[in-house]
Amino acid sequence: MINIKEEIANSIAKTVNLDEKELANYIEIPPNSDLGDYAFPCFKLAKELKKAPPMIANEIKEKIVIDENILEKVEIQGGYLNFYVNKQMLAKEVLTELDNKKEKFGSVNIGEGKNVVIDYSSPNIAKPFHIGHLRSTVIGGALYKIYKFLGYNSVGINYLGDWGIQFGKVMTGLELWKDEYDLSNNTIDAVLKIYVRFSKEEKEKPEMTDMARQAFKKLEDGDKQALETWKWLREISLANYEKTYKLLNAKFDSYNGEAYYNDKMDKVVEELEQKGLLKDSQGAKIVDLEEFDMPPCIIITSAGTTIYATRDLTSLEDRINKYDFEKALYVVGNEQQLHFKQVFKVLELMGYEKYAKRCEHIPFGLVVDKDGEKIGSRKGNSVLLEDILNEAIEKVKNIINEKNPDLPDKDEVARKVGVGAIIFNDLSNSRIKDEIFDWDMLLNFQGETGPYIQYIYVRTNSVLTKAGYTPSIKDVDFSKVTEKEAFDIIKLLYSFSDVAIQAAAKNEPSVISRYLIDLSQAFSNYYNQYHILTDDKAIQDARLYLTYAVGIVLKTGAELLGMEMPDRM
Ligand code: ARG
Repeated sequence: MINIKEEIANSIAKTVNLDEKELANYIEIPPNSDLGDYAFPCFKLAKELKKAPPMIANEIKEKIVIDENILEKVEIQGGYLNFYVNKQMLAKEVLTELDNKKEKFGSVNIGEGKNVVIDYSSPNIAKPFHIGHLRSTVIGGALYKIYKFLGYNSVGINYLGDWGIQFGKVMTGLELWKDEYDLSNNTIDAVLKIYVRFSKEEKEKPEMTDMARQAFKKLEDGDKQALETWKWLREISLANYEKTYKLLNAKFDSYNGEAYYNDKMDKVVEELEQKGLLKDSQGAKIVDLEEFDMPPCIIITSAGTTIYATRDLTSLEDRINKYDFEKALYVVGNEQQLHFKQVFKVLELMGYEKYAKRCEHIPFGLVVDKDGEKIGSRKGNSVLLEDILNEAIEKVKNIINEKNPDLPDKDEVARKVGVGAIIFNDLSNSRIKDEIFDWDMLLNFQGETGPYIQYIYVRTNSVLTKAGYTPSIKDVDFSKVTEKEAFDIIKLLYSFSDVAIQAAAKNEPSVISRYLIDLSQAFSNYYNQYHILTDDKAIQDARLYLTYAVGIVLKTGAELLGMEMPDRM
């Protein structure tokens, strides 16, 4: 597709004798399209040209030669040059490209197959899957798809917390209370109950903690029975998570978690030793990071055991070897900021500067209710992810039964809308902000929500169905979609690729959520203003094609976030 910024920069470059790329970087999109579709802020050149911005604007305006097929006109407004795009040209460019690429519209190959490793979800097995893991799963899942869309090879890693004292607790609890819980159905409900009960009771009975430690030690020492139980716990937990992952469209290429690295850490510890990075400190072995204003990174505790950081370093080295990654992203809550800073620094000190620079912690905020209170913390009980998703589906089903009881495929629609609402809510603001979890808000069909986007998508579909329309670009007269409201849509479609690129550059799926809201609202404006179905066939064909295009891009964009679009609702 045509690159309008480049075209403009090219024309300006010829008048001022400056670098085209630099000029292109300055070009802005005005907040209000009355001020043009693109604007060049001349004050950016004031220093270089030693002139006042309005004067620069005048001089450029006088000399500039524009291709009228691309730009309708240039105007001066203060120190800005405002460029107005030829509407018919852009409509043709965008819709023809869409016709060529269909659901691939907007995708580009800037990744060229380079590997982006995304560590996400990564729950702790045998502990409740906390709502915080929902955020990691949803944000990481979206990044996975966005990078893929941009030609990268996404590698999803679920770095399971499948080793640790929690297994000692559950195993001890299993022994103590085996008659009280029904474990025959192989679900994790009982396991989680045992974990929660154990954690509560051990507060009063410290000897229970000792028992848990011993049980875990048995596991660490390779006791056969303990290993069997561990394996079983891991299996039923994974089977349970899978259901949730399926609902969320989260994909993983590896489930190598902490346990996988158990027997691989010696090598890394040795390497640290050899490189002179390890220091003894009160019986522990650490990497001193004082010089970098950080507390030491503990590698071996005073009890002689390895810890979280040791395993993360080991897995990082493994990821370097296996994937030679372009980026390694860790989608983990904000509270682990220091941990990752330390681990990446140690990696750098080990001599892997190149890869250390490619590592990035992708933090996110808490999930809070509308009063700002952390969800799940009040009563000390965690909210199970699966329960939340099922509740969302149930709520949507109730709404459907009330408003549209004859809808076909009710269950499927409820699933797509319920889960979509949860996903979109999670991704609708910049990730570092706390997510407000409020049922009324996230299910509001008129708000800036997942259901709203799905509703607009369904509306595009129903218009096409009603018209019995088969999209055909050959029948489109591009001059018929140049009204302001139509052109707003065309411009948004044109920017879709950039939006995806930006989302990846910032590792911020909310860039796409915002875009989907804008596109939905733009279509809604258009739809309210003009009759898509009219007597004039040429007008109708053009409007229908535009409607079709909006539907495709809404669907593609929503799928990048992990949502699914219903055909009806
Ligand atoms: N299991 C950890 C937790 O739930 C998250 C793991 C994140 N990934 C990593 N490589 N450390 O807190």
